[in-house]
Amino acid sequence: MTRPVKVAPSILSADFSCLADEVERVTPEADLLHVDVMDGHFVPNLTIGPPVVRALRARTRLFLDCHLMVSNPGVLLDDFAKAGADRCIVHVEVGDPKPLFDELRTLGVGVGLTLNPETPVERVLPHLEDIDLVLVMSVHPGFGGQHFIPEVLDKVEVLRAAIDEQDLPVEIEIDGGIKHDNAGQAYTAGVDILVAGSAIFGAQDQAGAAREIREAALAA
Ligand code: DX5
Ligand code: ZN
Repeated sequence: MTRPVKVAPSILSADFSCLADEVERVTPEADLLHVDVMDGHFVPNLTIGPPVVRALRARTRLFLDCHLMVSNPGVLLDDFAKAGADRCIVHVEVGDPKPLFDELRTLGVGVGLTLNPETPVERVLPHLEDIDLVLVMSVHPGFGGQHFIPEVLDKVEVLRAAIDEQDLPVEIEIDGGIKHDNAGQAYTAGVDILVAGSAIFGAQDQAGAAREIREAALAA
């Protein structure tokens, strides 16, 4: 049986002046929505926070997957939960993630852990039993529209093997530079969820671009 694949449009590349319309356009081909939160400290860029998540929550039924590129996620989890986030993904580089996982579970919010391209996969392996999702960054976080770093696929393969071996209910997501021409490679390495920002929101036919990414993955 073919392993399913999900597509997660990243709103970072959407037109923020009409965000709800942009989300509506991709909804037919979106399995979830990827929300990039940047604090100007963990990464050199500043984006959105809980008020935008709250506004989105009122306008979409899509699963809101919040990628927290922030140095101190602990102070924000409660606000994201109240705003309607379905999952928060924290970076392993910010320190011991265990207390963050505990708080997210208490809040009833899904738990994701992510690692930057230069961070070894061994940093996340010990946490697989505590999380719902591992996000492998395939660009250096901070900006949309960067080039995919293919070397991170080695980490995807290690994670796929570890998750399957232990039969864990953990999904693997990849984020950065995903387009229809590398979606197959990522899927073959073991990815379950493909995040794409510029490849989807930069296209004329946004839902069509999301569909092409999904089809390219499944054709691999
Ligand atoms: C990068 C963000 C990504 C970004 C992906 O720091 O985490 O989610 O939006 O954008 P593309 O698909 O354009 O690389
Ligand atoms: Zn992201």
